[in-house]
Order: sequence, then structure tokens, then C-alpha cells
Amino acid sequence: VAQLQWGGRFTAPPDESLLAFGSSLEEDLVLAPFDVTCSMAHVRALRGGVISDEHAAWLIGALEVVAREIDSGAFAARARAAGAEDVHGAIDARVRELAGAAGELLHAGRSRNDQVATTLLLYTRDRASSAGATARATAASIVQRAREERDAGTMLAGCTHRQPAQPVLLAFVLIAWAEQFVRAARRFAAVGSIAAEVCPLGSGALAGSTLPLDRAGAAAALGFTAPSRNALDAVGNRDAALDLAHSYVRALVDASRICEELIAWSAPAYGFVRLADRASTGSSLMPQKRNPDPFELVRARASSMVGAYAGALATLCGLATSYQRDLQETKAAVISIVERSSSALDAFGRAFDAVTFDRQRMSSTAGDGYTIATDVADALIANGATARVAHMLAGAAVVRAESLGRALDESDVAEAAVQLGASDIHAPLTPEASIAAKQTAGSTGWAMVGDQIASLQDELTHLSAGA
Ligand code: ARG
Repeated sequence: VAQLQWGGRFTAPPDESLLAFGSSLEEDLVLAPFDVTCSMAHVRALRGGVISDEHAAWLIGALEVVAREIDSGAFAARARAAGAEDVHGAIDARVRELAGAAGELLHAGRSRNDQVATTLLLYTRDRASSAGATARATAASIVQRAREERDAGTMLAGCTHRQPAQPVLLAFVLIAWAEQFVRAARRFAAVGSIAAEVCPLGSGALAGSTLPLDRAGAAAALGFTAPSRNALDAVGNRDAALDLAHSYVRALVDASRICEELIAWSAPAYGFVRLADRASTGSSLMPQKRNPDPFELVRARASSMVGAYAGALATLCGLATSYQRDLQETKAAVISIVERSSSALDAFGRAFDAVTFDRQRMSSTAGDGYTIATDVADALIANGATARVAHMLAGAAVVRAESLGRALDESDVAEAAVQLGASDIHAPLTPEASIAAKQTAGSTGWAMVGDQIASLQDELTHLSAGA
């Protein structure tokens, strides 16, 4: 029989199937350690004038036992056997078993409503911090690869519309990828701060309490800036948890875009990337296959998390202020998003470390598709042509070269110079020269890429110091 936290006003027992339907225990077991922390702070809030020091000591002792049972893995089985509606009730039930009469006092002045809201914030802070660390570590390892590839001088044709556009350094592409993880790390840090602002504990079910709870002491003990201002709002506010889910989904969507490129690059038709055996998967039928499964799975996880996030958000639509039971579903949805996104983000970093670039092959394709045409046009502009005329002349040169099956060369620049009535025009005619000629901040020029690496590194150091 389930150990319920209510029942006095009923004369008939609950329907077992409906009780089981109403349980979120499997989904919220992951909150157990945070509930214990929250419960300890509540004991502190009660000690100020509701319970004796002796009872407080009993309660703390019992909660410490529960914490150990959670650590050892023994708690989950107990909670399941108790048939609890949620992890919060399961912990309360276990404390009542362990602390006898004192155990009956733990829930004084508390509702699961403020307990759930507070516990979810503690979980959000914890996961925001670990997600931030993962995002920073991934960014750092990508920046390190950028450093190596810049030193090696690896180039490729930068693409738009998936078509060759202009020559770039591979380091430049890697920095673009790292930027996304740095932004993700910033978002996780912001979520961590939001989740540490106000503490709902002591809000009771919705209206606060008639008992003299030390709310400020509990909030401080839990590392919040202050107790929440309005109990009705506090028990139904899921903003921080949803912000965390959102940040996770955003990070995964970014990762999925990188996955897509790495998947394409690892195909022999590209031959830019080799994924080490440890991160590759074979085929049960085709002996030659080496598949980039981790990147495909991360890409797919991003899509399913977008859907899950929409679902989590939708559980709040039209909910009246304060606690509604629907919020149990929000909680389960957020936890599932966070845990499943977190494993995908970890997997991405791990798989990325298994990537090696075929420098030779990549660099040898950097000029394919007339990627220096823009440099030719720029040279004409620098020598007095309007942008439109330069574009036309360089375009005509591409048509001519293409029909002859050759690259753009000096003869094309000379021909354009004749058309312009100019002499002695020089244009970068190789990918190396194109990259070397870039001079704007943020460009793929060697020096600028060096600046980007240094600046990203600074930001990562700064973010880590603030974490
Ligand atoms: N099991 C619910 C949850 O986890 C708590 C329900 C508390 N409030 C209530 N009035 N039933 O969100």
C-alpha cells in the first residue's frame, strides 16, 4: 500500500491504478539529493521557533541517512517499494521511518508545492553548472584544434549554400564552431544565476505560512540571494528550469549543425575527416563501412529535444497562477530534456576528439570552384572599377576559364585590366594568397585568426573563473 502524505479527509482509499498514473517517482528520482538539501534547509527554517533543537537534530540525522542511501543507490528501491507519488513524498516517508516522532514534524509549514519549486531550482543550478563546464571544455578543445590547424596552415573552400565560396583556414571554421559553445556556456552561466536569485521555500502551498519560518535563513543556507517575494507566483514559477532546458536544446541544435558537416566530411567523396575507430560503427552487412554514428545520433537527439522542449513549454499554456498538478508533467519533461541532452552533449565532445583532419586533401581543394573569383573582383575595385563592373569582369573570366578547364590566372587579370584601361593589376590567385590578403577584423586572415584564438581563449578563462 502506498505511503501517502494525505488521506485524513477521505473515507475510501484511492484507486490503485489512478494512484500509479499520478506517480512521477521514476522521472523525479534524479531530484533526490536536491530534495534532501532542500529538506535540511527547511529544518533550519523550522528550528527558529517551530521545532526544538533536539527534534531538528533527529531530522537532520535522518536526512543524512537518506543522503547516504541515495549515494549508495539503495534509496531508489525503497522509494519504489513505498509506492510514493513522487520523490519528495518518498523522502518524507523515509524520514518518518527513521526519525520516529520527530519525523512527523518535517513537513510542518511546508507543502510539496514550495518543496518541488525549490528542489527544481537546486537541480537547475547544479545542471547549469555542469552543462557550462561541458560547453567550456568542448569550446576549449575545439580552440586547441584551431591552434594546431592554423600552425599547419590547413585550408579549405569555405561554403555558403553548401557551394564553394571563398578560401578559408580550417582554423577559422573551427573557431566558428567554438564560438557556438562559448555562447552556450554564457547561456548556461546566465541560467545558473537566474536559478540562484530567489528561494520559494516557505511559500507553503500558495499563501505562505502562519508558522514563524526563518525563510531568509533557509534561502541563505541554500545559496539563494533572497526568499521569493510572492508565494502564489513562487509555487508555480518554472522559468529557470525551462531556461535550462532551452539552453540545452540550443546547444544541441548548434552541435547538430557541426555534426552535419563532420558527417559529410567523413564520407570518402570529401575525405576531409577521419573518425577514429573508437568513435565509429561498422555495418552488420557491408564489411567496408565505417559510420559516424555518434554525430548522427547527436543530430537526431537535437531534433527530438526541440520537440520535447515544445512539449515542456506547452504544459504551462493556460495554467492558472500557483500550483497546478500539470506542473508535475513540466518537471518530468524538463528532467528528461536535461538528462538526455546532457548525455548527447558529452557524446559530441567525446566524438569530436576522435576526429582527425586530412590536411593535405582539404587544402588541395581550397581553390576548387573558383573560390578566388572574389579576390580578383576586389583587386579590380581597388584599381578603380565599380563593384558592379568588377563583378561582371571577374564573372566573365570564370566563364572563360571554366570553358578552358583551367583555374583563374594572370591572363584573366590582365584581360580585365585591358577592359578597365588600367595597367599592372595584381590579384591574389591562390587560396594561400587570398587568405593572406584578408585584412578585416574577424576575417580568415592569418593574423586575425590568431587574434580570434587569443580572444576566445581569454573569454574561456574568464568564464571558467566565474563558474
Ligand atoms: N507530485 C507533485 C509534483 O511532483 C506534487 C504535488 C503537490 N501538490 C498537490 N497539491 N498535489 O509536482
